[in-house]
Amino acid sequence: MVTVELDKVDEIIDGYVGEEGILIQLLLDIQSELNWIPKEALERISERLKIPVSQIYRIASFYKAMSLTPRGKHIINVCLGTACHVRGGQRIMDRAKELLGIKEGETTPDMKFTLERVNCLGCCALGPVVVVDGEYHGKVAPAKVEKTLKSYD
Ligand code: FES
Repeated sequence: MVTVELDKVDEIIDGYVGEEGILIQLLLDIQSELNWIPKEALERISERLKIPVSQIYRIASFYKAMSLTPRGKHIINVCLGTACHVRGGQRIMDRAKELLGIKEGETTPDMKFTLERVNCLGCCALGPVVVVDGEYHGKVAPAKVEKTLKSYD
């Protein structure tokens, strides 16, 4: 169960009260603070800024930088493009799923990791490739996945 930190949401809204045309920036701030935008945050914005939830939802679901589902502190992208796949990418994904106890696209209950698949990161010679928070790890072996993940707090 994810606990939504509405205090933080309120603090961010406080910084914008009385300003016009701030909705996108406000949502981006919440995204950057919580790593996602919970439904409760949309409702709180709606209530405090008197903007319909549907309008806020439309904006939040339009921008790729905003996520309406929980995202962990660390985003793991396992490449399953053709080159990485033939070099064992699926085994890396399976090991990550096993270690984290989640499926692709999910976030660990402690909100630490989100596991996602990507299709080719443009560095196929390094395959299989795993990217954590934008940091590239090449030629990853299944046995190395645990050590790699442990290096992220
Ligand atoms: S297929 Fe993985 S980087 Fe190209």
